[in-house]
Amino acid sequence: MSEADRKKWNARYEEGAYVTRQHPSELLVDRLPGLILPESGGRAIDIACGSGRNSLYLARKGWKVDAVDISETALEQLDEKARAEGLSITGINRDLEQDLAVATDFLVADTYDLAIMFRYAHPALVEPISRALKPGGYLIVESHLVTDADVVGPRGTRHRVAPGELRTAAAGLDVLVYSEGIVLDPDGRSAAIARLVARRPE
Ligand SMILES: C[S@@+](CC[C@H](N)C(=O)[O-])C[C@H]1O[C@@H](n2cnc3c(N)ncnc32)[C@H](O)[C@@H]1O
Repeated sequence: MSEADRKKWNARYEEGAYVTRQHPSELLVDRLPGLILPESGGRAIDIACGSGRNSLYLARKGWKVDAVDISETALEQLDEKARAEGLSITGINRDLEQDLAVATDFLVADTYDLAIMFRYAHPALVEPISRALKPGGYLIVESHLVTDADVVGPRGTRHRVAPGELRTAAAGLDVLVYSEGIVLDPDGRSAAIARLVARRPE
């Protein structure tokens, strides 16, 4: 595990990172009702879940959620909320940027009805995540996009996807929605974002 990244993210969550961003992602809220999914929720995985705004949203709807992040502080914050509400959320503490086979060894083939990855740019994960979807399962991704605009999110390009990169990474899936552009977050700030909704072929 990258000790520096783990420490950096733990410190951010200890300092209250994202406490004002409790709302689930607009993309998830808008698109979930249109997908063909188990009525009372199935199994979902939230990659780079942070303190779990989207995991909580799904679990409150009856989903059984696995939630993965490098920050054990974020996972503890999420676990506390899940326990208080009696929700089914299992934290998995993992550095997703180590060797890909090791980083994704918790992914079991044909397991999930839904996989989500929000505001975390790691297109190489799309393929192993897709294999962990059940046939017909869905992947929803929202990644910061490389831009010159004055927007929120990581500085520089390392933690952003290039134009077209996310779509290319989803080549083995049926792409239902793909967009790139500037969106206005509920807190009034602008973000440069690539969005993907895709389905594993049946
Ligand atoms: C911008 S936050 C997004 C959190 C959440 N998905 C959301 O939309 O609210 C990025 C998350 O990626 C996690 N992260 C960063 N590097 C990581 C790594 N190498 N492995 C796993 N998670 C990582 C951070 O701890 C953080 O929670």
